[in-house]
Amino acid sequence: MAAMAQTDCGQCSYLCRTYAEAIARGEEKSLSRCVPGGKATSRKLRELVAALRPGSAAGAIGIPAAVPATALQPIPPHSPGELFEVRFCEARPLNRRESEKDTRHVVLAADPGEAKYEVGDSLGVAARNSPELVTAVIACLGAPRDAPVLSPDGTERPLEQALSETCEIRRPSDQAIEVLASRALDRNESLVLQAMAEGYPGAGPEDADLLDLLQGFPSARPPPSELISALDPLQPRLYSIASSPKQVGGEIHLTVAAVRYQKRARRRLGVASTFLSDRLVPGEPVRAFVRPARDFRLPPSPDTPIIMIGPGTGIAPFRAFLQERCAVGAPGRNWLVFGNPHRDRDFLFEDELLAYCRDGLLTRLDTAFSRDQDGKIYAQHRLLESAPDLWSWLADGAHLYVCGDAQRMARDVEAGLAYIVGKEGGMEPAAAKAYLARLAAEGRYQKDVY
Ligand SMILES: Cc1cc2nc3c(=O)[nH]c(=O)nc-3n(C[C@H](O)[C@H](O)[C@H](O)COP(=O)(O)OP(=O)(O)OC[C@H]3O[C@@H](n4cnc5c(N)ncnc54)[C@H](O)[C@@H]3O)c2cc1C
Ligand SMILES: NC(=O)c1ccc[n+]([C@@H]2O[C@H](COP(=O)([O-])OP(=O)(O)OC[C@H]3O[C@@H](n4cnc5c(N)ncnc54)[C@H](OP(=O)(O)O)[C@@H]3O)[C@@H](O)[C@H]2O)c1
Repeated sequence: MAAMAQTDCGQCSYLCRTYAEAIARGEEKSLSRCVPGGKATSRKLRELVAALRPGSAAGAIGIPAAVPATALQPIPPHSPGELFEVRFCEARPLNRRESEKDTRHVVLAADPGEAKYEVGDSLGVAARNSPELVTAVIACLGAPRDAPVLSPDGTERPLEQALSETCEIRRPSDQAIEVLASRALDRNESLVLQAMAEGYPGAGPEDADLLDLLQGFPSARPPPSELISALDPLQPRLYSIASSPKQVGGEIHLTVAAVRYQKRARRRLGVASTFLSDRLVPGEPVRAFVRPARDFRLPPSPDTPIIMIGPGTGIAPFRAFLQERCAVGAPGRNWLVFGNPHRDRDFLFEDELLAYCRDGLLTRLDTAFSRDQDGKIYAQHRLLESAPDLWSWLADGAHLYVCGDAQRMARDVEAGLAYIVGKEGGMEPAAAKAYLARLAAEGRYQKDVY
């Protein structure tokens, strides 16, 4: 458990704890499912498993006998058999042209009988790798596109299809790097690759993709099937659903930030975000699954006030919450805090949100446009400016929600909330933290961060 990223993000299809337990019991063989933990987590897991197996019973690696069997179930539905088909409709830009960001309003059409979801849920999307990257990898391998190879899931497929649909090629597994090392004809290349596979600091770039490795180590040319089967399976990516089925019927809306950046003289593309933003045509089928939210739900009573803090793509589930509260005529007050770099180009869903303010659905909308002035202004600064109001909403039983970036935003917003609670409630820092922990335990402080 200590090796996991501790975010409970669900990308591995478990929670951190249930993934750790499933590995420890020997029920889960894949040690590289933790996306935020990356290689550091998978290496630590390999070390642990190697040290404690073979022959170790679960008890030998410290699993409490009392762990209930239900706690070990992956979050359903996840297995590929449970993926259903949605149809891509559009990926409309939400930022103006001059923006540095490219966030899309993605609309998918779904059969409502099959794609049942509630607000707060996420959608898992099975994407395909960029065709340019796949073509470049095949060229380096020097194999025919239709050469039969074993995919990471154990099924035989033509090379191009296997690389496109089933392999994680942006983050080659340590096992795949070991295969390259073992087949490198040049001894120096083999040694460097082996050091990289073992995580030796500075051996090579930690973020090399498969093409970087094939180009950087030209003597390493394993038989394609051996290399492909050693790669990790391409995991679906999760997106917070940005719509309420009560408002949009057979549609699912997502708010997707396209990941594109330049590294080592090559443009890099996030697999799923650019698949959804750039590579689909209207009507094209996409395989997906609904991941039900565990702890990210509207309050049971429609009268309860809610405070939603959602900078950037964190706006997604709050658009769904607002649609839902509008559809059911919920009388509870709604306060949204949104942030992004610039008002004139990054105010996602500006028209909708301003209309909700005019209609009274949004009791309050605070914006933090971080780069519109000399110093940064973030969501937590806006909350601090309104600390007495926040405290009074909490006193009225408001539920507090945070969605978006986990690494910086959610952590700093939480620190800001603790400061406000301490200031307004006259509490010491430890008591303010305990207050937030109590709110969370009561289901009144919920986070969906990634
Ligand atoms: C519960 C949940 C909900 C989510 N909801 C949303 C949502 O509503 N909207 C949304 O957009 N995303 C959301 N995400 C994130 C989403 O799942 C993907 O992680 C994201 O879209 C990137 O996936 P990708 O396949 O496009 O990129 P990948 O191919 O996975 O690449 C991403 C990786 O690229 C690297 N990278 C990215 N930028 C840079 C850079 N500038 N320099 C160097 N390296 C870089 C990082 O290592 C990063 O991990 C959510 C995640 C979770 C777990
Ligand atoms: N590199 C990429 O191409 C790319 C693309 C999409 C998403 N992502 C990653 O995906 C995540 C979500 O991206 P996103 O588009 O939803 O928005 P985001 O990058 O999280 O930014 C949303 C807003 O939050 C602000 N912010 C930054 N640090 C903050 C903090 N500590 N506290 C409060 N607010 C803070 C940002 O300000 P400033 O940016 O002005 O500091 C911005 O105004 C981020 O981790 C992001 O790095 C990366």
